[in-house]
Amino acid sequence: MRILSGIQPSGTLHLGNYFGMMKPAIELQDRGEAFYFIADLHALTTVQDAGALSENIRNVAIDFLACGLDPRKACFFRQSQVPAVTELAWILSTLTPMGLLERCHSYKDKMAKGFAPSHGLFAYPVLMAADILIYDSDLVPVGKDQKQHIEVTRDLVIKFNETYGNTLKMPEPSIQESTAAVPGLDGEKMSKSYGNTVGLFEEEAALRKKIMSLKTDSTPVESPKPVENSTILGLYKLVANSADYAQMEADFRNGGCGYGDFKKRLFGAVWEYFTPMREKRKEILADPGYVEMVLSEGREKAGGVAGKVMARVRSAVGL
Ligand code: ADP
Ligand code: TRP
Repeated sequence: MRILSGIQPSGTLHLGNYFGMMKPAIELQDRGEAFYFIADLHALTTVQDAGALSENIRNVAIDFLACGLDPRKACFFRQSQVPAVTELAWILSTLTPMGLLERCHSYKDKMAKGFAPSHGLFAYPVLMAADILIYDSDLVPVGKDQKQHIEVTRDLVIKFNETYGNTLKMPEPSIQESTAAVPGLDGEKMSKSYGNTVGLFEEEAALRKKIMSLKTDSTPVESPKPVENSTILGLYKLVANSADYAQMEADFRNGGCGYGDFKKRLFGAVWEYFTPMREKRKEILADPGYVEMVLSEGREKAGGVAGKVMARVRSAVGL
């Protein structure tokens, strides 16, 4: 089974990225042949500062490796280093109905956030389909917000195979419903575009300050606190062990503990959860050539697979 996923280097990685996509992907690297990449061509749709983009690419690579992506198990590479993917994207785009892209939420969301409408943003799902199909992927672990893009990919497989004969492999999404939407500091979905994120590798003081600033209601210390939709509990559940979580939930229900206390516990658990990853990150940073070496080995392997699928596609369409 081939497992594939990508992450955009469009900012600093946060708990939503980790629990929504990175952790499930890392767990899956033991269950099949994993291909994970940094979607740098996709990031160009929103990051148009060369220095910032190359820094983000490097940081995402370091952080993903620090979190447990194991290059001995998973092929890890940069999207732009396998240029055949843009060739497949073009071929797919000639079969993509406009209506299919017009229905995509991600484009509408970007417009609502004030991004200038560009062809790249509009055609984003076609490049994503090419990412998936060029590696004959079986399973695609992603956060819930990417589900529609996998559906577009599946529609394009049907369209392509009907038009040119059975050529492309049908992928399945893998979405962890339990972590489908990690809440941000304001209770909305955690997202870098909402400025409500908790970064994976923030400095201790900055992280504490952020968590202590988490928005809460004004229930007095002695009263029971609402458990439903609590951001503190939602985040704590991800990082605490089950006994500590049960204790906090009981303290919410019983009253007598203030939100300040809950936030301190949350900070402690987040800090502890990421301690081994912080250590691993230090090791990676101490070896300057390591990340480039991993990505260049990944490029070789990914390029080999992509070349074979591309040859099949070219022959199917008559090129
Ligand atoms: P952002 O919303 O911060 O821009 P991205 O869109 O770059 O994040 O998301 C990268 C990956 O992380 C996707 O697979 C996405 O589904 C997942 N992800 C992002 N935010 C969350 C969240 N709050 N909860 C669960 N998964 C998330
Ligand atoms: N669109 C994905 C995101 O924003 C990133 C991505 C690009 C991706 N190509 C992909 C994810 C292929 C899975 C498979 O998170």
